[in-house]
Amino acid sequence: MDKIVVSGGRRLSGEVEVSGSKNAALPILIASLLTDEPCTFEHVPELVDIRTALKLLKGLGVKVEQDKPGSVTLQARGVDKLEASYDLVKTMRASFLVLGPLLARFGEALVSTPGGCAIGARPVNLHMKGLAEMGAEIDLVHGYVAAKAKKLKGTKIYLDSPSVGATENLMMAAALAEGTTVIENAAQEPEIQDLADVLTKMGAKVAGAGTAIVRIEGARRLGGVKHRVIPDRIEAGSLMVAAAVAGGDVLIRGVRADHLDAFLLKLREAGVELEIEGDQVRVKGDGVKSVDVSTLPYPGFPTDLQAQMMVLMSVADGVSVITENIFENRFMHALELIRMGADIRLEGNRAVVKGVKSLSGANVMATDLRASMSLILAGLVANGYTEIARVYHLDRGYERVEKKLGALGADIKRVAS
Ligand code: UD1
Repeated sequence: MDKIVVSGGRRLSGEVEVSGSKNAALPILIASLLTDEPCTFEHVPELVDIRTALKLLKGLGVKVEQDKPGSVTLQARGVDKLEASYDLVKTMRASFLVLGPLLARFGEALVSTPGGCAIGARPVNLHMKGLAEMGAEIDLVHGYVAAKAKKLKGTKIYLDSPSVGATENLMMAAALAEGTTVIENAAQEPEIQDLADVLTKMGAKVAGAGTAIVRIEGARRLGGVKHRVIPDRIEAGSLMVAAAVAGGDVLIRGVRADHLDAFLLKLREAGVELEIEGDQVRVKGDGVKSVDVSTLPYPGFPTDLQAQMMVLMSVADGVSVITENIFENRFMHALELIRMGADIRLEGNRAVVKGVKSLSGANVMATDLRASMSLILAGLVANGYTEIARVYHLDRGYERVEKKLGALGADIKRVAS
């Protein structure tokens, strides 16, 4: 398996373009199941998770065409299988999102439950409860959710917590349900808004996406769509931390800064210089001071940028408290950062990070997607070489990361081992 090797200490400079959002693209690709007409999506990142989603859709009988980079056309006319296997769902949890659309359009689905993962238990109870409230008959058999519904019916659903995946699954189901579905305490992430735009273009009536109450009037039939996926706010944030931690002057292009408000405020509070103009953010980093960070559902500070922020705080001036409120086990990167010389004390869901003058390169191992990015970032600022194993996590979610950082002047390469 490949490794990434980083030799630290280089300042970064130049320009870099943000890819399309993985987390927006996944539900959007899956939404193509809702119609028999062609759906074309642009700005789709080339990532392992996207390939997994396309494999899943192909397996169901969806016609997949990729005639140019970043563009995918899907047509779900010949769907002849209504099942997502454990093998696929366990490699990528977002596969579970086929449940709502399959059920809504074909009246049944058999989808494996994902099980726990490296960062927490991550149950899917809210997805199932919502669909049951829309009239689906749901059984759990041999680790699979077997769902049936002649016709889903719109209703009022309250989510106990604002789950991104549950909101997406239920929105897709509601788009073909009879009547109006109201999702209360819905997730408000920008990816929800992007999915709502797609469903609207397909013919559903969606109001309130991006707020805590989403109202969807189902259509009897949905049509094809053309849509460009929003930029990846997590990749953009990770690149900003790279510039801030390594020092330098980097222009990041194709950013939706309005999707990163909480994060940008924290960077500014830490003393990072940011110039925002249109879809470009210029980041100048030269020493940062500690700030406290607490992850929260959007518009709060994103859990997917917590690991990266911890790296910045590891070399900041002062003591920072980082609180993780979304996932119960999302500090595995801290243990690797400690091996690189970071001064971090873990207390339940809080990490107390005391900034040190420098980190020192080491052989480290990534445990999840965002953790692997944080180790690259630590490598950029560490003395000597950092070798990051298990990079398959990285390839799931960051497009050509070593090329992008390399073009900015980082000494980073991928080696086959
Ligand atoms: C999505 C993102 C992921 C991000 C997360 C939180 C995708 C493909 N992934 O994941 O990158 O880290 O949002 O911003 O978009 N929960 C329940 N019951 C449920 C569903 C969720 O208790 O039925 C809990 C989870 O265990 C977790 C919290 O809710 O503690 C948030 O999970 P959720 O918002 O559903 O995350 P995902 O959609 O899986």
